[in-house]
Amino acid sequence: MTIIDIHTHLLPKVDDSMLKRRRFSAMMGKYREAGIDRIVFSPHIDDPYVDTRRDRIESTFEWAAAKAAKFGITCHLGCEFYVRDQERLDFIPHFGTHVLCETDTSFAPQGYLDTVRRITDSGYRVILAHVERYRFLSPECELFRQLHEEYGCLVQVNARGARTDMGRTWLRSGLVDFIATDNHGDESLPLALYEILGQYPYVARRMNAFVQDNLD
Ligand SMILES: [Fe+2]
Repeated sequence: MTIIDIHTHLLPKVDDSMLKRRRFSAMMGKYREAGIDRIVFSPHIDDPYVDTRRDRIESTFEWAAAKAAKFGITCHLGCEFYVRDQERLDFIPHFGTHVLCETDTSFAPQGYLDTVRRITDSGYRVILAHVERYRFLSPECELFRQLHEEYGCLVQVNARGARTDMGRTWLRSGLVDFIATDNHGDESLPLALYEILGQYPYVARRMNAFVQDNLD
């Protein structure tokens, strides 16, 4: 069984990550201890509240991947793409095929569905980041039905969010494809991810199958 963390902000000085370079190896040690052997670094892109240094992403990723390799951890570069009505879709896709997407938590911004459709039409599969946070989404609502059934969106819940009422609602619905840490520098999160996956084995199985089908 392999465990992947598809949502992290662990590249120092790239976005709003709190992780310092000197604590990076300690963090990788925590991932290793928790049995997590793959990490996707997913810095924010187009998030109006985060000032991301795009020019640093590639070089910092190279640095981080080399450090992580010493712990036997395989790294991937992706992003967390903030969906609104932007013209340019300059995301970094996970694995070259998937786009982890966030948006405003209180309402779906103008152009939201349209932008998701444009991403999907250009051949990528959308993963809805920390779905439990969105007040305008629930497993039964019409917007989610469209996202899921028409656009084939996958569903991600945060490890901490899994313990909230909405997190439990999503997880019990059987609709969740990934649990991830959304780790900004908290060394307790790798173990938290491992533990919550133990409570929802169907998600752990789906994540394992995803890695086998797409990455191995
Ligand atoms: Fe995030």
